[in-house]
Amino acid sequence: MSPSMTLYHNPASPFSRKVRVLLHETGQTGRVNLKPVNVTPVNPNPEVCHDNPCGKIPALVLADNHVIHDSRVILDYLDHQHVGNPLIPREGSARWRRLTLASLADAVLDAAVLIRYETFLRPQDKQWEEWLANQSEKIARSLEYFENEAVTELSAHFDIASISLACGLGYLDFRQPDLGWRSTYSRLASWYYDVSQRPSMLETQPPV
Ligand code: BEZ
Repeated sequence: MSPSMTLYHNPASPFSRKVRVLLHETGQTGRVNLKPVNVTPVNPNPEVCHDNPCGKIPALVLADNHVIHDSRVILDYLDHQHVGNPLIPREGSARWRRLTLASLADAVLDAAVLIRYETFLRPQDKQWEEWLANQSEKIARSLEYFENEAVTELSAHFDIASISLACGLGYLDFRQPDLGWRSTYSRLASWYYDVSQRPSMLETQPPV
């Protein structure tokens, strides 16, 4: 089967990784041509901007040239394109619970990527320490919630909530290797150890 869709992505982007993990988990990797692009808030990619006016990745170009973004919408779309168990519950309280957990995990990704931009792209003398501290606190509050309120639920299914958090923790390891989150959140550490052995996670690891 030759790929009928194209995914603009970056191997370092945790939002792109969520899509690639779902493609693996649902047996759809052969349907998507991966197109790596370098995009930052100060370096937009003209090709991406043509297909997604806000210039963000991931963006998925369908066979009919319609474009789907952002990562949550892409995951929803792709979850409707396979015949296995849905990774986003279709209805009932499970749907809203898992989407809410996924949203909280996405907040971790957002904050971690914003910290990366602030510390890597912005000149050091212009960096805003208070803003950085608040992004870090957002991550800490979210991880504490997952540790104390949601880790058992996460262990039950590897679905949209688990994929989003696993990609978030992987990104923290990648960009903030000295954070030491495992010593504070031991149950999350144990959960992450298990899920990071999944082929979908191993095959989508950020570059070394
Ligand atoms: C990164 O290099 O950390 C990165 C790249 C693309 C999107 C988000 C983050």
